Amino acid sequence: MKPKVIVYKKVDSKVLEFIEQTCEVINFETLDAKTYPKFYDELETAHGLLGSGLKINKELLDLAPNLKIVCNTSVGYDNMNLEELAARGIMATNTPDVLNDTVADTMFGIILATARRIPEMDQLVKNGQWKSMISEDFYGVDVHHKTLGIIGMGGVGSAIAKRAHYGFDMKILYHNRSRNEEAENNYDATFCSLDELLQQSDYVCLMTPLTPATEKMIGKREFGLMKKSAIFINGSRGKTVDEEALVEALKTGEILAAGLDVFVQEPVQPDHPLLTMKNVVTMPHIGSATYETRYKMAMLAATNVVAGLNGETPPNLIKF
Ligand code: DGY
Repeated sequence: MKPKVIVYKKVDSKVLEFIEQTCEVINFETLDAKTYPKFYDELETAHGLLGSGLKINKELLDLAPNLKIVCNTSVGYDNMNLEELAARGIMATNTPDVLNDTVADTMFGIILATARRIPEMDQLVKNGQWKSMISEDFYGVDVHHKTLGIIGMGGVGSAIAKRAHYGFDMKILYHNRSRNEEAENNYDATFCSLDELLQQSDYVCLMTPLTPATEKMIGKREFGLMKKSAIFINGSRGKTVDEEALVEALKTGEILAAGLDVFVQEPVQPDHPLLTMKNVVTMPHIGSATYETRYKMAMLAATNVVAGLNGETPPNLIKF
């Protein structure tokens, strides 16, 4: 009998066909009130789970006694309770590397959009408020030749550094758990303490994974250390930042502006104070969201699930 894989997001039909060569596939294009009851029924006999965002916790795992592998279609895996998975001998995988350039492009997009106030200017033109040659009120700030501080110099951080170094002549500071010699040699990136990075950077770009150690790592104290002209960019996870402290820092002028792809609660509540601020540019967690990259991520997750259920070591096995 073929092992059973539940795919709980919409993926390209080629991805499903690939898994179907060796596994039975049950596909839920979305999980919502209508589909959850059947999803929970299917969990009981599932061997593999593939998708992103679902909380893989004790309650869910209790419903899946036959599960052997959980494959995220994302590089982040903060949705998984790794201790529970380890205790049950269930493998877990993610999709690193294939998204690095796409996320770095997105981060440069939001850096430029925030610095040059592009969404605000777009609205101004479309609302018919462009009445005369623009005055200082509409000026932005330069990106090129400024200092970019990258917190989390992994694959995505390095791809951001590459763009900053070669494309924008920026000085690059970084803070990471360990030194990244490749980034130092190739992009002239300088390793420094978190506090030094916060004090010296014009752009602070947070790219670290969410772990117990990084939760709320940027809060009141850290915003206080940043330049008043600093622009804060978050492309990691909402929970790495104390959102109330961010609102306060933006309101009081502790920092100049913020560009945010991630929020503590996603989708963000429409009445969230950040959404009323002119100096905040927002995106709905779209770092890796291009057709090409989402296909590669889904195919990589499929490769992981197939390998894991066929007795091989999945290429992106997460080490507990
Ligand atoms: C990831 O892969 O973790 C990204 O946040 C998805 O865009």
